Parts: sequence; C-alpha cells; structure tokens
Amino acid sequence: MKYTSSTTEVPDVPAVPRHIAIIMDGNGRWATKRFLPRVAGHVKGVDAVRTVVEACARSGVEYLTLFAFSSENWRRPEEEVSLLMRLFVTALDREVSKLHANNIRLKVVGDLSRFDEKLQSMIAAAERKTANNTRMTVTVCANYGGRWDIMQAIGKMVAAHPGAHDFSEEQLAPHLAMAYAPEPDLFIRTGGEQRISNFLMWQLAYTELFFTDTYWPDFSKESLDEAIASYQHRERRFGRTGAQLAEKTS
Ligand code: IPE
Ligand code: IPE
Ligand code: MG
Repeated sequence: MKYTSSTTEVPDVPAVPRHIAIIMDGNGRWATKRFLPRVAGHVKGVDAVRTVVEACARSGVEYLTLFAFSSENWRRPEEEVSLLMRLFVTALDREVSKLHANNIRLKVVGDLSRFDEKLQSMIAAAERKTANNTRMTVTVCANYGGRWDIMQAIGKMVAAHPGAHDFSEEQLAPHLAMAYAPEPDLFIRTGGEQRISNFLMWQLAYTELFFTDTYWPDFSKESLDEAIASYQHRERRFGRTGAQLAEKTS
C-alpha cells in the first residue's frame, strides 16, 4: 500500500489502523490521586508503553507513535524535567534489545539537539540497531512540537528549491519529521483533556480522534481495543458525502 496525503488524494481506509498516534497524558494525576510523587506516574507510564507496543504489534498495527515530551514540557519544574530525562535513558537502556528481538524498529523524532550528549548517542545507537526491523515502527516524539516540525520542514523545502516562491504540499511533506510513515488513522489522547497540545499538527488533518478519561498508567490492552473498535465504527469521508461512500462499497 502506498502512502497518500489525505488532502491531495483519498487514502485507503484500513480495517485495523495502520498508524496509531497517542498523547500519553495523565501520569501526574494518576500519581497524585494515590498520594505519590508525579514521577511515580511517569514510571508506571513506561509499563503502559510496553503493554501498548505489544498489543499493537499483535493487532497488526504498522506504526505506533507516542508523544513522550513536548517542546512546551521544558516549562515544567526543573526537577520533573530531569527525572523525565533520566527515565528516558533507563527505558532506552532496558527496552531496546526487547524491541529488537521482536523485530520492531525504533525512531525518535523531535529537536534532539537540546538533549544531553549521552541521551543523543543512546538514541542514535538504538535507531541504528533496530533500523532494519520490519514488524512495526515505534516512534517516540521527544522535544517534539507540531509547529517545530512544520517550520523545520519549510526550511529544508526552501533550501531544496532555491529561488522558488510557490510550493505544493507534495514538496513540503517529504521534509516532515515522520515522512517515513503514513498519516495516522487513529489518534488517542488519555487523561481527559480534549486538545492536540501541539502534537502532529500537519499529519492529523483527517485522523479519527479518540479521547478517554483513563489516565495513561491505567491504559490497557482492553482500552486499546475499545479505541480501535470506536475507529472501526467511523465513516471516514475525506470531504465526500456518505452517499458517495455507500456507492463505492456497494
Ligand atoms: C503525560 O502526563 C506525560 C508527560 C507530559 C511527560 P502528565 O505529566 O502531563 O500528567 P498530568 O497531565 O499532569 O496528569
Ligand atoms: C502533552 O501533554 C504532551 C505529552 C503527553 C508528552 P501535556 O500534559 O504536556 O499537555 P497540556 O499541557 O495539558 O496541554
Ligand atoms: Mg498532562
């Protein structure tokens, strides 16, 4: 199946989402509710990541994208930011060989230049190690912002076409950080908020949105099944009428 842009062509609609993108929110509130420090929620959140990676691979999802740290999360107290960085290092350390053994490719996207060198080289090593794996691609968005992504892509596009003044979507798309993946079919946000928080601003144009009050550390295989079931009941029209769709499928 080739990757199509949802705005320039009507894409195929897979029964099981090929690409699921998740805002893993609610770790802090999960911990606070239990009178625990916020970091306990982040630690527990890593277990939920493991569960969801496994469940997605078993369901035949090809791309799973996880928002781990936004370009705005630097605004948090320094202590929480540094704990999150340490957690990122330990999780990479522990999980990469498991991902590799399961034929899963790991990608980390975002402005990685702001991370310390040790973390940057661990990320590069993990990506190298898993680069040829084919079962599923897990993308972790770290120091990622949808606006950052669009701006960096514009910079590269302009440099690739010196002197040009008119540009098309097709010229921009290959420079976006996740150009290797189709646009997400299903977006999930846990934790009760109903907003995009500067996640994949460009790529979510026609993605089906699913919001749940479940805090991320409590998100289970059953929660994922519920989100996929909801997706399977949607009518993805991409601008057309319901009657046109019925005609196509009859
Ligand atoms: C999401 O959980 C994890 C990150 C943003 C790193 P939060 O830490 O935002 O949890 P809440 O929203 O405060 O409960
Ligand atoms: C979005 O969650 C970012 C991640 C989950 C990494 P936030 O908790 O930072 O979002 P806001 O601040 O509530 O919009
Ligand atoms: Mg939050």
